[in-house]
Amino acid sequence: MAPKLAPSILSADFARLAEAVASAEAAGADWIHVDVMDGHFVPDLTFGPKMVADLRSATRLPLDVHLMIDRPLDWVGRYAEAGATYLTVHVESSGNIGAALAAIRAAGARPGISLNPETAVERIGPHLWNVDLVLVMSVHPGLGGQAFIPSALEKLRSLRAALDASGSRAELEVDGGIKPDNAKAAALAGASVLVAGSAVYLDPDGVGPALAKFRRALAQVS
Ligand code: DX5
Ligand code: ZN
Repeated sequence: MAPKLAPSILSADFARLAEAVASAEAAGADWIHVDVMDGHFVPDLTFGPKMVADLRSATRLPLDVHLMIDRPLDWVGRYAEAGATYLTVHVESSGNIGAALAAIRAAGARPGISLNPETAVERIGPHLWNVDLVLVMSVHPGLGGQAFIPSALEKLRSLRAALDASGSRAELEVDGGIKPDNAKAAALAGASVLVAGSAVYLDPDGVGPALAKFRRALAQVS
């Protein structure tokens, strides 16, 4: 099956986010990816729970909320309550990660675990069976528009094999530097969800044509 497409609104105009989400939905996006940054885990600041709640009213698509924050356990309840569908925490962030994943599920959202480019796949091993999503970062988190780090493909292959071998149906998502010209390689490596920010929202042809380029690139992925 061709992977799902999750446009990241990090590269959209923050003063026009409702339009950004509506144009992605109209163009057939599967999910909306929402990058939450706290100024600590990564240098930048983006969205709080109110933004997630307001986005929840603006689209029917699942909201894939990527928490690039320290002490996620202190926050996951608020983001789940705001309407996050998937809520992903970083294995490198501070605090008790297992407790954060359990709190996400208890609050009615789907837990995800993410790992940075320099983090070994083994590090998420203890959490792999408690999550509905695994997010492989293919850039260093914190900024849109960076170049894809090719070693992410090997991580995808290894995680795809581990998930399949255990019968897990968790989504395997890749985030960072995804463009129409590397989308197929990511899908063939086992990704079931592709996040793309700048390739969707900064395409001079617009959001609809940008998503069509991805669909064409992925047409032969079975
Ligand atoms: C980076 C974010 C990404 C970002 C990807 O820290 O997690 O979701 O929006 O942007 P592109 O697709 O431009 O690399
Ligand atoms: Zn992200």
